[in-house]
Amino acid sequence: MPAVLSPHAPAQTFEIRPLDAPLGAEVIGLDISKPINDADFARIHRAHLDHHVVVFRGQQVSPDAHVAFSRRFGPLEIHVLHQYHLAGHPEILIVSNIKENGEPIGLGDAGAYWHSDISYKPKPSLGSLLHAQELPAEGGDTLFANQHLAWEALSLTLQRRILPLKAEHSYLAKYEELRAKNPWRPKLSQAQVDQVAPAVQPVVRTHPETGRKALFVSEHFTTGIVGLPREEGDALLAELFAHSVKPAFVYRHRWQPHDLVFWDNRSVMHLAAGTPDHLRRKLYRTTIQGDTPF
Ligand code: SIN
Repeated sequence: MPAVLSPHAPAQTFEIRPLDAPLGAEVIGLDISKPINDADFARIHRAHLDHHVVVFRGQQVSPDAHVAFSRRFGPLEIHVLHQYHLAGHPEILIVSNIKENGEPIGLGDAGAYWHSDISYKPKPSLGSLLHAQELPAEGGDTLFANQHLAWEALSLTLQRRILPLKAEHSYLAKYEELRAKNPWRPKLSQAQVDQVAPAVQPVVRTHPETGRKALFVSEHFTTGIVGLPREEGDALLAELFAHSVKPAFVYRHRWQPHDLVFWDNRSVMHLAAGTPDHLRRKLYRTTIQGDTPF
C-alpha cells in the first residue's frame, strides 16, 4: 500500500544534497512509497521551499504511490487534456512522445515553451511531480529557471515599474501554434475551452510560504499586461521573458532512471528541452493545486 498520512512511522534514512546549480537538491535514500513520518515530511517540505526543485532518486514506485505522495502536499489538479490521463488515474498526465498504433499515448510537446504549470487558472499550481518511466538515450532534459533570482537581479527601476502590474495568462495562447506543429494535438471541445478561461495574475508574486518575491510571467501562457498599450506591454514582456531564463538562473535536469522530480511552480518556470523523434520518452505528472497569487 502506498504511504499516506503516517505521523508516527519509523524514520527513514535519507540525505538531502543541494545541487551545484542556481536551484535544486537531490534526495538519496528515501522511498516515497513507504510510510513517511511527520519529521521526515517536514525535512522534505523544507528542502522544497529552500531549493525549489527536489529530485528524489531511484523511485521504483507505482502510480498509486506517486499520487498518494503528491496528495500529502495538497489536492491534485485534473488536467484539461483528459485524452492523456493515465487509465484509472485521472490525476496523472502522461507526458510522452510515444505513439501506439499511430496514436500518441501522452502529451508529446508538454513544456515546449517556458512556463509555470496552470498559471492560466485563478489558482495556479503549487508544484508538480514528474516521474520518469522511460527515458531516451540522449536528450529529454528538463530546464528549470529560478524566478526569485530573476526578480532579485532586476534593476530597482524595473522592479518598481513592474511591481504593481498584472498580466493575463491563457492556456489557449499557444494552443493553435502547437497544433499546427503537432497535428496530433486534439482539437479542444467547448467544455475544455470553458475550463481554461484566461486569468489575471500579478507580474511579481510573493511566495505564500517563504514570503520571497518571484517573477511570474511566461512565454507560454502570458498574453499581455493589463492596462498598458499593446506595443508597450509586449515590449516589456519580451524583456522580462528574456531576463527570466538567463543561464545564471537555470538548472538543467538530466534524467536518471526512476527519478521523481518535484518542482515549486511558485518559484520556478520549466521547459522541456526536447527529445529526438526516433527515441522514446515517457513520464507521469501529478500537479498540486495552489492558491491565489498575491
Ligand atoms: C511539463 O512541462 O510538465 C513537461 C516537462 C518535461 O517533459 O520535461
